[in-house]
Amino acid sequence: MKNPIEIRQATLEDIPEITSIFRNTIIHINKKDYSEKQIKIWASGADDLEKWKERIDKFYFIVAEVDHHIVGFAYLKNGNYFDGLFVHKDYQRQGIGSKLLRIIESQVMSNDYQVIKSDVSKTALPFFDNKYYEVIKKQKKNLKGVVLENYLVEKML
Ligand SMILES: CC(C)(COP(=O)(O)OP(=O)(O)OC[C@H]1O[C@@H](n2cnc3c(N)ncnc32)[C@H](O)[C@@H]1OP(=O)(O)O)[C@@H](O)C(=O)NCCC(=O)NCCS
Repeated sequence: MKNPIEIRQATLEDIPEITSIFRNTIIHINKKDYSEKQIKIWASGADDLEKWKERIDKFYFIVAEVDHHIVGFAYLKNGNYFDGLFVHKDYQRQGIGSKLLRIIESQVMSNDYQVIKSDVSKTALPFFDNKYYEVIKKQKKNLKGVVLENYLVEKML
C-alpha cells in the first residue's frame, strides 16, 4: 500500500463507516467459512446502532484510515479481552490488521495485563496464528438462535 495507515480513536460519527465495514467484511470475507444462515445473522449485528454507540462510548475503540477513509477497526473490552477486529474487504492482507493489533496489544499492556484473550472466527485464525496466539478451545456462540463456531485464543505479552 502506498499511502500510510493512520490510527485514531473512533467517534460516534464513524458508526456508518464502521457498520458498513462490519457487514461487508462478514458477507464477502467470512462467507468462505460460515453458512449463508450464519453469515446473515452475524452481519445483521451491523443494524444494532445502540450497541455500536455503546461500544464506542465504553470500550477502547480504534479505527485505521487510509486517505481519510476508514479501512478497519478494532476494540478492546474489559481491559484485556479483545472483542473485535475487522478490515475492509478491499484492503485485506495489506498490514492493516497487524497495525490495529499492535496498538490493541500495547493498550492491554498499559492496562497492566500480561495476557490478551479473544474469541476469533475460523477466518481470522491464520492471522492470529501468525501473531503467536495459542488456541485454548474451540467453542460455539449462540447468535439469535444460530450457532457460530469460533476459537478462544490467548497470548502472553
Ligand atoms: C483477520 C483480519 C482482521 C486480518 O487483517 P489483514 O489486514 O488482512 O491482516 P494483515 O495484512 O495484517 O496480515 C498479517 C499476516 O497474517 C497472516 N494472514 C492474514 N490473513 C490470512 C489468511 N486469510 N490466511 C492466511 N494467513 C493470513 C499472513 O501471514 C499475513 O501476512 P502476509 O500477508 O504478509 O502473508 C482480516 O482478514 C479480516 O477482517 N477478516 C474477517 C473478519 C474477522 O473474521 N475478524 C475477526 C473477527 S472475530
